[in-house]
Amino acid sequence: MTETCVLITGGAGFVGSHVVVELLEAGESVVVIDNLSNAASDKDNLPPAIKRIQNIVNASQRKRLYFRKGSYGDRNIMDSIFNEFKIKAVIHAGGFKAVGESKELPMKYYKNNVKEALTLVKAMNDHDVKNIIFSSSATVYAEVPPEKLPLTEESPVGNCSCPYASTKLFIENILRDVTVSDGQWKVMSLRYFNPVGAHHSGMIGEDPKGIPNNLMPFIAQVAVGRRKALNVFGSDYPTPDGTGVRDYVHVVDIAKGHVAALKALPNMKQGFQPINLGSGVGTSVLEMVQAFERASGVVIKTVMQDRRPGDVASMYCQPTLAFEELGWKTEKTVDEMCEDLWRFQNQNPNGLHPSGESN
Ligand code: WQD
Repeated sequence: MTETCVLITGGAGFVGSHVVVELLEAGESVVVIDNLSNAASDKDNLPPAIKRIQNIVNASQRKRLYFRKGSYGDRNIMDSIFNEFKIKAVIHAGGFKAVGESKELPMKYYKNNVKEALTLVKAMNDHDVKNIIFSSSATVYAEVPPEKLPLTEESPVGNCSCPYASTKLFIENILRDVTVSDGQWKVMSLRYFNPVGAHHSGMIGEDPKGIPNNLMPFIAQVAVGRRKALNVFGSDYPTPDGTGVRDYVHVVDIAKGHVAALKALPNMKQGFQPINLGSGVGTSVLEMVQAFERASGVVIKTVMQDRRPGDVASMYCQPTLAFEELGWKTEKTVDEMCEDLWRFQNQNPNGLHPSGESN
């Protein structure tokens, strides 16, 4: 009998790998498709993230995990997956995500994130798979004045700060239009705020190639001695300590949000539903540094710099819709995010890349 599975694109990536663990632990069978463009791979082409997931979960869960190397934009591969398995829903967590690179190479982002998503959606449609959970981002929101915070799903979107953010909004619009054209489609667009931390085991976590763009991997690499100091981008923002404020969410909480979304999908009231995945609490750069110092016992050297172009002062959400629709709310604290990230960084000073080429 054909096995019923959840298909996840980008399942070897940071968020994707944690989603895979939670899905397996929730009893789902999971097919991962990943072209490993941003994930490390071994000689046998099985990415370390997948091998480590196999170690985290138990033997029966391990048997329910399948890996296929390839692009979700490759129609032949997608056809073969949809023919081999009965896919009950797709979690689309694949795609490029470097904000800076997207400004330098916008076409790369529009092709990889938008054009290939069209192939994915068309393949799903042709195989009559019409349930999708999309990894969207809080960057789809237009900048709002501080009095309009927290951000709700009704807050204005658009006027994106970079092509990466535009691709997320394009894909949301494509998916929304598809639900309008065909009432069988069910789409949940999970707008992640700032996913950080790592799995409690220390086995999987964020593994950026090159110099990290994001705050927490950079702090972790300073703590472990790979970088000299953290550049704090802006100390004159209208925030309590002058540094940027964000809504950090433990990646395992984010992953659990996908399991909750999967359960809620069949009973959705409308075809397309954006949902914020955030804690509702803003934390500043310096507060994150202090939390990491507490977790690691290492002093993080900081150097105050100018603001980073495109950054906003403050961003956090109102997570009530996620609770109403999914029964989901964040459970893990900022201290747990830092403790788990520190464990991962300590156990894997060179990340998941086998040869440590991510230096
Ligand atoms: C957080 C805060 C920085 C680095 C981006 C994407 C978003 C997303 C998460 C993508 C800001 C400050 C950072 C550093 C610093 N998801 N900072 N020194 O910009 O909120 O969101 O990443 O996949 O889509 O836009 O996250 O971690 O880059 O920055 O001072 O070296 O830390 O200025 O205030 P951001 P971030």
